[in-house]
Amino acid sequence: MRNPLPRPIALAAGATTTAAVLQRAAFLRHCVLALVAAVAAVGSFGAHAQAFPTKPVTLVIPFAAGGPTDLLGRALAQSMGASLGQTVIVENRAGAGGTVASASVARAAKDGYTLLLHHIGMSTAPSLYRKLSFDPLKDFEYLGQVADVPMTVIGRPDLPAKTPQELISYLKREGKAVNLSHAGLGAASQLCGMLLQQAVGVESTTVPFQGTAPALTALIGGQVDLMCDQSMQTVQHIKSGKVKLYGVTTRERLKPLPDAPTLREAGLKDFEVVVWHGLYAPKATPAPVLATLNTALKAALKDPALIKRLDDVGVVVVKPELQTPEGLSTQLSSEVDRWGALIRQAGTYAD
Ligand code: MLT
Repeated sequence: MRNPLPRPIALAAGATTTAAVLQRAAFLRHCVLALVAAVAAVGSFGAHAQAFPTKPVTLVIPFAAGGPTDLLGRALAQSMGASLGQTVIVENRAGAGGTVASASVARAAKDGYTLLLHHIGMSTAPSLYRKLSFDPLKDFEYLGQVADVPMTVIGRPDLPAKTPQELISYLKREGKAVNLSHAGLGAASQLCGMLLQQAVGVESTTVPFQGTAPALTALIGGQVDLMCDQSMQTVQHIKSGKVKLYGVTTRERLKPLPDAPTLREAGLKDFEVVVWHGLYAPKATPAPVLATLNTALKAALKDPALIKRLDDVGVVVVKPELQTPEGLSTQLSSEVDRWGALIRQAGTYAD
């Protein structure tokens, strides 16, 4: 119960007893304190309502710096930062095909200051890892889908195969002697490489890295033979002739690489991998904070500079209706089911 107000005493005109003066002073002091408390309460309510974000936001990238997720994340961070009025800092937490970063963001403070940009790997992890310290379907708030990134199948510059058909023959002939690099179990490059081996009917030797940035360096240097990697990173290296391009993993050819056949055209029936991306926050982040972040995501995905940057490398910003919590949660749950079936069939697991 609140303290009762001290009662003001009615003073006869001109009455000035010491007791009366003291009581009136106490009453006035009480009124002033009550007013100060009320103003403070209103101020603090206002501060809660519009406080987010009052400091930089961290965007966690689950792979090495310089790779496709990092490149997409940095472009997104710049545009979201402009809309939020705060810097969005990119932090790379590579390891275990993206699961190290996902686990850490699932356990981060639920205040909107730690976000995760992750791709298709969020949906394959529950099937690939028998032990996972987080649940993609329970431990996150979904801010929205971001963009779809095609993949390219690329080889070291001096790989003898010149065409996709020659590559298929080379893979069959050389078998385990071929080193296929990827970014760890759960990475898009690993998934695409696994599907490529299945489609060709071979088993190559796989070489994991912390991301496709270091894997690409090894490919350009000739330490590994082949890799599937996202166009976000590879287009410039393909155009400059640093790597050999054999095909693209989309249904249609890519605008920036019009001469490259799709793997379907090259004879690998039904082959298709498109790397969808989503933005996540820890579960139980407050709704007003999530709304602010979603508004910033949508604003970023309308930014003409960002759209052009992505379009130049064949990356497509998702439709507005997918840039939503529902758009991401629906995609994630259907992809968990889809890849679960395929991964069980392939029998690829980590303990
Ligand atoms: C990366 O940024 O290194 C890639 O997204 C890894 C991958 O999934 O292949």
